[in-house]
This record gives sequence, structure tokens and C-alpha cells, in this order.
Amino acid sequence: MGRQSTLTLILLTFLALSSVTIVPLAENSGAGGGDFPKFKQESEWWISLVPRVKDIWKSSILFDRKQQMEGAKNYESVEHGTALGDPGMRSDRMRVAVEGWNFCNRAGPQTDNEVSPRWADCADLTSASSTGFQAIDDKTLWKVDQKVLETDNNLKTGDAFPEKGGEEFQPIDDPDLYAVEKEKYLASLCQVNDPKPWHFWMIMLKSGNFDVNSKLCHTEDVSLSALYNPPRRQPLVQQNGFPCFGPGCMNQPRVSHNWSQVESKNGASVSLTGSFYGTYDVGADYSGSDTKSYFSVDWYKNEPNGSWIFHHILRVSDRYPWLMLYLRADATRGGSGGYPWETRGMMHTVILCSVGCVQQVPETPNFKVVVTLNVIRGGGPQSQFYLLDIGGCWKNNGKQCNGDLSTDVTRYSEMIINPDTPAWCGPDSLDLCPPYHISTNGQKYYRNDTMNFPYDAYHLYCAPYNAAFAEKPFKECDRFSNPQAQELVQLLPHPEWEVHGYPAKKGDGWVGDSRTWELDVGALSNRLYFYQDPGTPPATRRWPSIDVGTEIYISSSSATAEWTLSNFDVLIPA
Ligand SMILES: *[C@@H]1O[C@H](CO)[C@@H](O)[C@H](O)[C@H]1NC(C)=O
Ligand SMILES: *[C@@H]1O[C@H](CO)[C@@H](O)[C@H](O)[C@H]1NC(C)=O
Ligand SMILES: *[C@@H]1O[C@H](CO)[C@@H](O)[C@H](O)[C@H]1NC(C)=O
Repeated sequence: MGRQSTLTLILLTFLALSSVTIVPLAENSGAGGGDFPKFKQESEWWISLVPRVKDIWKSSILFDRKQQMEGAKNYESVEHGTALGDPGMRSDRMRVAVEGWNFCNRAGPQTDNEVSPRWADCADLTSASSTGFQAIDDKTLWKVDQKVLETDNNLKTGDAFPEKGGEEFQPIDDPDLYAVEKEKYLASLCQVNDPKPWHFWMIMLKSGNFDVNSKLCHTEDVSLSALYNPPRRQPLVQQNGFPCFGPGCMNQPRVSHNWSQVESKNGASVSLTGSFYGTYDVGADYSGSDTKSYFSVDWYKNEPNGSWIFHHILRVSDRYPWLMLYLRADATRGGSGGYPWETRGMMHTVILCSVGCVQQVPETPNFKVVVTLNVIRGGGPQSQFYLLDIGGCWKNNGKQCNGDLSTDVTRYSEMIINPDTPAWCGPDSLDLCPPYHISTNGQKYYRNDTMNFPYDAYHLYCAPYNAAFAEKPFKECDRFSNPQAQELVQLLPHPEWEVHGYPAKKGDGWVGDSRTWELDVGALSNRLYFYQDPGTPPATRRWPSIDVGTEIYISSSSATAEWTLSNFDVLIPA
């Protein structure tokens, strides 16, 4: 396919990419109408949300400051070789949680019988007897200590949280903020202190369905402008082109759970195994004649002290043609990889308060990621499989994010390894390329330098909507799929990135080419262009969320992706 027809295709299919979506360029008839029940008025929602997000941010920093003083000795005495609580996924404990996001990166409205979209499975394997090592393979001598109960996972918006010594969790009557509280609550049950606290691997589920008539994913509000004076956004009506079968299309999935239980492999070893699985196709009017959407993540070990193996399946359906499933290592506190919500997770967070309180999470250019990936089924041509998606947040003036949604900017970089994914950046589509590329030897090549710019190394670049001095021509990233502005740098396998351990060419690491990767993400992310206002000091690039998984992006037919992930580690300077 020639560049022109590729561009036409882009225009027709419009570009949108999840937590990572860019502005749709053409009309499409997909969107349905109608309001959700139980949901507050648009303006009321924003007013109540924004200041509270800021409060949550602030209170967490205060909390950290206190905890840092108390825990300072412990933290300093620890050698840092890994950023993770469960380096290499080798713990004999299972620590995993699930988070559901709608298109706007929120929980969204929920009916009375729906649980708040956070779940966890946190289990310790303990010996039920003192018979000793000879009986290690007898699974009846082991038991599972479940830290999370069914009643915890079933908490709904507004429910009071069970008492938990010391910490208090607010039964907020707002689905978005309740989900954040629930994540914190589940984390408090799962927390491991050895001695730095950590919580769980995070399974992220997100649907790309967007009902533009739902009044969700707000883009403009007079009262919000009055508060923060954000840049003006385009009217929604021009952006109509998102998948949606009608009212209710932005629902959270129904999640089923096989709790971790003891498993004995060939009578030779004992470990835990369990799963989360479910579907988005939950509506009462669902005919059931189509293939239903499906996802599952199950975990097991092949050797007792070996890595957990997380086995994933994701299937899109007619009604849910755009779904995402990732396994994330998130920071143990602070903003969640660019989302303005308090998160809990796997990546140690140290707060340095001598120069203002900041997170100490993997930082460009000094960190690496090790991961074994086995892609079993690709998920069709629309499956944008990310062999690493990294998420961070900083302002266009280079300063750290502070919870102000009008100036905080989410920054993502992803390498897409599906060989069917084309380079949309090209000499005839410079607006989808970053303004320049830094070569392996540090040389800067502008995107109009057709001799030297490696167009095939980029799927696309898009600029944050509030980039006041973005170099023309540019495409703006989607304004709806994130509560704040976002910027995206999406890469493709290429010799330019191979020097950092990334796939060198299309097909590397894809179906039939399972590998253990050691990715110098720090060095790669140091070479990437991210927008900043002219003359501002370069931001420190910190990445509080690192994940692997796929985004099947508006598939015209049902498609299934399947893969396993193991040995995940994030290495930082000791
Ligand atoms: C959950 O457990 C049931 C009963 O053991 C089993 O049939 C099913 O395959 C499991 N589901 C997943 C996704 O592991
Ligand atoms: C597995 O780990 C446990 C606890 O760390 C240790 O006691 C045991 O010797 C290890 N077993 C093997 C086979 O390495
Ligand atoms: C290429 O782009 C750079 C940076 O925008 C600009 O300075 C230069 O004049 C451009 N060169 C050509 C030949 O257009």
C-alpha cells in the first residue's frame, strides 16, 4: 500500500489509541445516545472531582513525608538493584490486582449491583504442618492464606470499607474516586514489607468504546475554565467517530475470579494458581448471537522458585471492537503512569523531600527492563502489541506534575511489535512524526531530512493539546481518553532501537519467536522527543508505570490475542 492510500486509510479509520488515543479525523456513525442513570450533571461532576484530585495528591505527599521520616533508616539500608517488590516475578506469594478503566480513564457510572472496578488476589502459600522438606510435594500439607476476601472484591461505590488498623478509607459516593479508594484499600490488605512496601502486579482492562452523547469524557466546562483556565478544546461534535453500540456502551467488564489455590505439578513441586476472567458483553439486551468479548489472565509456576507465568487472552467482539489488556508494574504510590489518580503497585517509590517531595521511580537514562514474552496469538492486524509501554507525567515547562489537570501532561512511549502495524509517520505525513530523531551517535535529524530521518522507526507521534508552541505540522493527541493532556511516541522495531536491546525488524518477538528481552529503556527514552515549551529546562523523565500487553484497536471482526509474560524485572542503579 502506497503512502497516499495509507494516509487515506488513516483518515477513514481515524486515529485513536486508548489511553493513548489521537484525534479522530473523520465522521463515523458509531455513537449512540442517552444518559447514564445515577450520574451527576456534567458541571457538578467536574467541580467536585478536580479539587478532590488535588487534595488526594497533596495528602499522599504529606503522608509520604511522615512515612519517610519514620522509615528512613530502613530505606537507606536497602541496596537497589531492582525497582520491583517482586523482582523477576519469583516471589512465592501471589500479588495481583485488576483495574477497569472506561474510555476517559475513569470508572464511570455504575448501577447499584455493579462492584467498583478494582479486584485483587493476594495469597501466601504456607506450610500447614512441620513435617519438613520431605513432604514438600504433598499439596495437602500446604494451605493458602488469602489476604483479600470476596467481600472486599465485591465492594461497591459508597460502601463502607471494613476496619483496618491505622488506615482509613473513605466511602466516597463518586464512582471514580471510590475506585481509587478501593485500590488503596485492597493494597493495604496485600502490602508486603520487606522492608520497603509493595502491593501487586496490576492487570489493566480498558475499553475504547466512547458514547459521545453520554456526557462522559468531558472536554470543556465553563466552571472548570473559571477554576483553572484550561486551553479551549474543540467541540465534541466534530470528534464523533468512536465505537459505541448505544447507551451503556462504556460499561465496566464483568469479572470472574478463580481464587489462588495450591497446585502440585507432577507431584514434584507445590505452587499457587488462579485466574481472573470475564467479558464486557453484559447488557440485558445482548442477543448472544455474536461472539462475546473475553479476557482472562491466569497465573501458575513451572518451578517452585521460578517465575510466575501470567497467561493472557483478549478477544474483541462486534460491540467491543477496541479493548486493552496490560500487565503493569505501577509505582506503589503517587500518580499512576500519567493518570492523575493515586495508585498502588509493584514499583518501589521513594519520596525525596529535601528538594520538594518527588517520586523516585525509574528515571531516564538509567534503567532497564527484563521480560520474557511469548506471543501465542497476535490478535489480528489491529492488535497494537506493546513490548513495553512506559507512562510518565511532566508539565510542558519541564516541572513535575502536581495534580493540576490543566497543565499536567501524560507522556507515553510504546514499541508496537505486531508486524502488521505500519509506520504512519513518513515523508508525506510529517505531522505524524516527531519534529526530530536523535540517532544512536547523538546526531539530530529533522523530520524533513528525507535522507536521514528513519520514518520506519515510528508508528506515530502526536502532541499534547496544550503544547502552545508545537512545531507545525502536528497532530494533536486525543483529548478525551485521559483527564489531562497526553503525548504519544509510538515506535516500531528498527535497527535504530536495536542497540538498546529492542526488536530490530518486523516480526522479531512476534508469534513463534518467544524471547527474554533485556531492554535498555532508560537509554532509549533518553533519545526520544517529548514536547516542552521553548527555553524551559529539560524535564526529568520518570516512569511510574511500565507495562506489556495489547490494545486491539477497532477490529472489524472478532480477533483473539494470547500471550504469556514472565521474569519481569525493572533494574535501577544500585
Ligand atoms: C476457572 O476455574 C474453572 C473450574 O476449575 C475452570 O474450568 C476454568 O477454566 C478456570 N478459568 C480460568 C480462566 O482459568
Ligand atoms: C526455594 O526458595 C526457598 C525460600 O527462599 C528456599 O528455602 C529453597 O531452598 C529454594 N528451593 C530451591 C529448589 O531452590
Ligand atoms: C527542516 O526543518 C528545520 C526545523 O524545523 C528547519 O529549520 C529547516 O529549515 C527545514 N529544512 C527544509 C529544507 O525545509
